[in-house]
Amino acid sequence: MKTTILVTGGTGFIGSHTCVALLEAGHDVVVLDNLCNSDATVIKRIGQICNREPGFIEGDIRDSALLKNIFDEHNVNAVMHFAGLKAVGDSVQLPLAYYENNVSGTLNLLMTMRAAAVKTMVFSSSATVYGNPASVPITEDFPRSTTSPYGATKLVIEDILADLYQAEPDWRLARLRYFNPVGAHESGLIGENPRGVPNNLMPFIAQTAAGLREELTIFGDNYDTIDGTGVRDYLHVVDLANGHVAALDYLQQRQELLTVNLGTGQGISVLEMISAFEKTNHCNVPYRISDRRTGDIAKCWADTRLACQLLGWQSSRTLENMCADSWRWQNSLRNSTP
Ligand code: NAD
Ligand code: WQD
Repeated sequence: MKTTILVTGGTGFIGSHTCVALLEAGHDVVVLDNLCNSDATVIKRIGQICNREPGFIEGDIRDSALLKNIFDEHNVNAVMHFAGLKAVGDSVQLPLAYYENNVSGTLNLLMTMRAAAVKTMVFSSSATVYGNPASVPITEDFPRSTTSPYGATKLVIEDILADLYQAEPDWRLARLRYFNPVGAHESGLIGENPRGVPNNLMPFIAQTAAGLREELTIFGDNYDTIDGTGVRDYLHVVDLANGHVAALDYLQQRQELLTVNLGTGQGISVLEMISAFEKTNHCNVPYRISDRRTGDIAKCWADTRLACQLLGWQSSRTLENMCADSWRWQNSLRNSTP
């Protein structure tokens, strides 16, 4: 069924790739983003990839009047909700800003949706809700906990959605728990563009390979893992975007609260990632080993069977695809810098 989707945070990393997937699936898309961590040129780039642009409104999910106008003026059927602040370290320094933006923003969005009788939302949750898991792979029924205010905002929003569904079962709600999204669109036109020093591994590797950073610091090599470095479930962002379209299709068939992991089910260590990046892209990533980063866990990867069973979705892109696409994007960023 063709629908109009409101994509909050649609100029950001995951939102922009999901706009492409939605447009390619034939949906109409309207993006709402306050550009606090992205820029509006992304809309034109999405247009170049898809031969049609999404609508764009610069604004904030906390602005009730603006949201009401959007629902009045566009025939929105569903919301994909990516807008939020996401830096774990910043959230420790700025907890109120994180709760206000992420939790109050989401509440505001849900209340305006209800007033407009739009009752379908796909929400960006995170593997961070599993805290430090007792074992791997992680299934959706693992206990939830958190180590940061950022993670706490995801827990609270997950609970808000569960309570809402319990009280009003005519909603269609998805809580998608992403593992570690990396890579970029294969066109080289959209990707992750962190402001300042990247917190996450893949952009740091790409910037180091490009010579923008002297070396990568590996946070600990004495974990109980294959080579002592941290192990994660890295997932290509285009696969992740396609998972959103699958979740939307699923919700169009039923009124449900859906909770699924989106990952590959495969754990990759920091050293394995560096080696794959160097080999794929014929480049060099100098590194040194330092102490563990506070709050890091040893290993984390998804049990992906539920997503496959319910959504018919699984990742298809390889580690080499992730490395090649990140590198292409890094180089296109360099070439587009004046
Ligand atoms: P991103 O920062 O690239 O995108 C988020 C977008 O939301 C940005 O464009 C930002 O400008 C916008 N935004 C933030 N607050 C807003 C507000 N109040 N009103 C309107 N727009 C606002 O981040 P991303 O990596 O694309 O993440 C998208 C979502 O997925 C986030 O909710 C994030 O917490 C979640 N998530 C991300 C990861 C990851 O590793 N990238 C992992 C799990 C979950
Ligand atoms: C991956 C591995 C690091 C950088 C974070 C958030 C999580 C989620 C995704 C949103 C770890 C190591 C990293 C570096 C390194 N976001 N590393 N040197 O920590 O799994 O998850 O982003 O929900 O909530 O916590 O991802 O990319 O930061 O780290 O050695 O410079 O790389 O120790 O083992 P993480 P990451």
